[in-house]
Amino acid sequence: MTHSYRIDTGRQTLVLAARNTRLPQVVYWGAPLPADEDLAMLHAAHAIDITGGMLDENPDLSLCPEASRSFPGQPGLILRDAGGAPVLAMFSLVDAVQTATDLRLTYRDAENGLDLTCTFLSDPETHIITCQTALNAEYPVYLDWLAAPVLPAPQHSETMIDISGRWCGEFQLAHTPWSAGIRLRESRTGRSGHEHFPGLIVPCHGATNTQGEAYAFHYGWSGGHRMIAEELADGRRQIQWGHAAGSDTQAATHFSTAPLYINYSDSGLNGCAVAFQRHLRDRIVTWPKPDTPRPVHYNCWEAVYFDHKLPVLKDIATRAAALGAERFVLDDGWFGRRDDDTTSLSDWIVDARKYPQGLQPLIAHIHGLGMTFGLWFEPEMINEDSDTYRTHPGWVLGRADQTRGRQQLVLNMALPAVREYLYGRIAAILTDHPIDYIKWDHNRVLPMPDAAQTRGTYALLDRLRVDFPAVEIESCASGGGRIDFGILQRTQRVWLSDSNDALERLRIHHDAALFLPMAVTGSHVGPRICHTSGRTLDMSLRAWVAAQRHMGFEMDPRELTDHEAAVLSKVTGWWKQNRHWLHSADILRLDSADPAVIAEQQLARDKTRFVVFAGKAATSTQIVPRPLRLTGLDGQARYRVTLVNRDEAPGLSRGAPLLKSGSLVASGTYLMQHGVTLPWSFPDRIWVLQGESL
Ligand code: DGJ
Repeated sequence: MTHSYRIDTGRQTLVLAARNTRLPQVVYWGAPLPADEDLAMLHAAHAIDITGGMLDENPDLSLCPEASRSFPGQPGLILRDAGGAPVLAMFSLVDAVQTATDLRLTYRDAENGLDLTCTFLSDPETHIITCQTALNAEYPVYLDWLAAPVLPAPQHSETMIDISGRWCGEFQLAHTPWSAGIRLRESRTGRSGHEHFPGLIVPCHGATNTQGEAYAFHYGWSGGHRMIAEELADGRRQIQWGHAAGSDTQAATHFSTAPLYINYSDSGLNGCAVAFQRHLRDRIVTWPKPDTPRPVHYNCWEAVYFDHKLPVLKDIATRAAALGAERFVLDDGWFGRRDDDTTSLSDWIVDARKYPQGLQPLIAHIHGLGMTFGLWFEPEMINEDSDTYRTHPGWVLGRADQTRGRQQLVLNMALPAVREYLYGRIAAILTDHPIDYIKWDHNRVLPMPDAAQTRGTYALLDRLRVDFPAVEIESCASGGGRIDFGILQRTQRVWLSDSNDALERLRIHHDAALFLPMAVTGSHVGPRICHTSGRTLDMSLRAWVAAQRHMGFEMDPRELTDHEAAVLSKVTGWWKQNRHWLHSADILRLDSADPAVIAEQQLARDKTRFVVFAGKAATSTQIVPRPLRLTGLDGQARYRVTLVNRDEAPGLSRGAPLLKSGSLVASGTYLMQHGVTLPWSFPDRIWVLQGESL
């Protein structure tokens, strides 16, 4: 007898089927199936043959592959009893509950006293399926590994794309050919991490950004994760996601994976990207003021670092407001005796040497300029040179002789006393001052992976969100060290990278857009000479690249020439005029025929308008630009396309391509099939095109 279930989002169907009461396996995942498809038949048709050298029955690649059934690859569950002996579970169906959007399957291993629950939640608008596995035990057990519902990877795929990175170089795409054995990505640093963003895309043969099929996965957990992509000897492929192995360190009776977000696309990588972008913006993030436009930020970090002087900060704020900033964020250096990064973390009391009358005079000045005020914290950290450490040395996570990171230690967030202390300090600052934004930093890795640490941080964030619902929070971890849907359930913005180098940012924006929408992605105009790359880039490139995402400034405005200030004001004005539709636009990565050009198209939901950013990140091989093909337009509609910054064509561009002097009016089909012919430009420049349907 077959038990079968189907999950539909309108753009994909996922079919689960099981023999008798066994755990089910995915027997189909792809384009929507007809409503009357015979699922039992699909189950029968899915069975693979048996030949020499194989068992007499092929172990199922189920939602939790069972070692007890001789599964020949990574099992979905690795467990030990209180004495350390392995527990080999074998589950049988207890209950299946299905509604239009939810499926909840419960299984039991009576012999070992275990219950396993797999849940699926489908979203017909964003096309994301959210799935999760939970384990309950009658007695405390040690968990070495629990996978979220295990999914097959397609056979008609040559490579997988997962994400690497580093400080100032986040979201680097790693392409790995499929081959026998395991590709394992694991973050063991207690954060989702610069190095291992928890995402995977499996493109099928021939898929590009704009066409073909692809499958995508994101594990929504901030505490470090493990991904396994395995090809078995029989050719089947499985994808597993869970917490970093062993990060639940205590014996317990309940364990759960984080939500795993998945989707199938028949419109290239962009189909996956748009599903994640929309789901994150419309379902995961909770916006304190959903109808208020994202404000232009000013962040003072790279202007003053720890050197806080009230008159200087007021002057900077005045200039930032004149350039168009709407929120001023006071970064590290305002508390304790924080004159450098060796001291004071956890002493969240305003430094009376720098602010003898408290923060009020600065905030009043900022409010007087029409800006709101945000403040930096790094709550989970402590310096040994702090009053808090001197009073509570036992609050530190890990051994006393552990290696320090940025001269700091980590607070043990699993301790209720630590959370109570941090809540009290942060709540006091928020109660005493009109603050609408926190930049929540996290500048070192944990001494070891520990899921309880992440649960403690989530609990503190959740409590603050309940008590201060109007305050927005930015997740920063030396730039993009903690970006995932788990932290973004509690925050509204990520500091994507400490790199304010516009060329590096152009690339990071492009690759992060596979998962992140514009509305959550912080991007600032940095100093003329970039502090992290030493590169000097033109203000136009710096401003337009910041305008690709949630825009802000971080340079010292006193360094700007009149020309730079004028360019920045103009681009900021453009961003403010357009942000009402850009906030909800889809970011589509373009398939540029020129590898020197990194290009994207932000398309309004109703397809009536778009903006294209085409950044020339290197010198091209050929002498003039190749046409840039657009995507996602209505083929029959006519669009007027204008080069927003055509006045920036350099003198060496001597010809008369249409866009240098006028608009192009053409069908969506022409723009997508032939593409747009841009004027010649120097490298390290960007063209910005705007289009509207007529
Ligand atoms: C690291 C962050 O990424 C920076 O933006 C800044 O906030 C510093 N920490 C402050 O210490």
